[in-house]
Amino acid sequence: MALLEVRNLSKNFGGLAAVSEFDLDVEEGEIRGIIGPNGAGKTTLFNVISGTLRPSGGSINFEGQSIAGKRPSAIAAMGAVRTFQRTALFEDFDTMGNVSIARHLHAKETIFGAILGTARKMELANERRAEEIIEFIGLGEVKHELAINLSHGHQRALNVAMALAAEPRLLMLDEPVAGMNPGETAVMTDIIRNLRKDWGITVILVEHDMRTVMDVCEQITVINFGRKLAEGTPDEIVSNDDVIEAYLGSEDILGEDF
Ligand SMILES: Nc1ncnc2c1ncn2[C@@H]1O[C@H](COP(=O)(O)OP(=O)(O)O)[C@@H](O)[C@H]1O
Ligand SMILES: [Mg+2]
Repeated sequence: MALLEVRNLSKNFGGLAAVSEFDLDVEEGEIRGIIGPNGAGKTTLFNVISGTLRPSGGSINFEGQSIAGKRPSAIAAMGAVRTFQRTALFEDFDTMGNVSIARHLHAKETIFGAILGTARKMELANERRAEEIIEFIGLGEVKHELAINLSHGHQRALNVAMALAAEPRLLMLDEPVAGMNPGETAVMTDIIRNLRKDWGITVILVEHDMRTVMDVCEQITVINFGRKLAEGTPDEIVSNDDVIEAYLGSEDILGEDF
């Protein structure tokens, strides 16, 4: 059984089939890439899997349990967490504050904790864990900076840290390197690798930038007009005739090296 099993998934917006008859199997421990041109349906796929949007049809199983149509908070609590393509931060809070808020939003604290007087202990554990996540993401030096004052690369990294605050088993990243310079991109690429290596987190990486996906993913799924166009290793994908045809002339995806 795969960690995530998507079958025959569809999402329509009026007459537009943004995602259509889509199948996806992601195994525990994978870093899966999903690529496709702008408007292909990548974000819609994440929205439906993460519960932001209800599917029009099909099934989504996470750890063998149906999550189709559940609320985002319920899906996150089960361990499947996504980031958004556009950065969403609490600008007037510092790095630590943002990760702490994210932890509270996902907290599974119970009334019993409060009654037993363990609330303060949990608060300290929360803070320690927030610091751990911030160090892991490479934001240790800016942990007391206001989010609004962080560089673009740091803001994007903080976005990932806030998703990690929910302690996911599956992390879905929507264009995490968008707008990053090459240095920032290299740092984020390392973080993605370490998520699996150090913390055993399974990753689905949606990217417009094919180079990044080819760098970190063993398996890539290509989506075009809401449908699966191809699936395979980076080598198989770059030499796939359907993929080449779909991207012909689209240099921003293949880049000049391909
Ligand atoms: N909330 C929405 N309402 C109507 N149409 C949408 C909505 N979200 C996305 N779409 C449309 O669905 C298609 C897929 O969009 P999207 O999933 O954002 O693509 P990608 O992330 O691959 O660029 C596009 O044609 C887009 O305009
Ligand atoms: Mg998108």
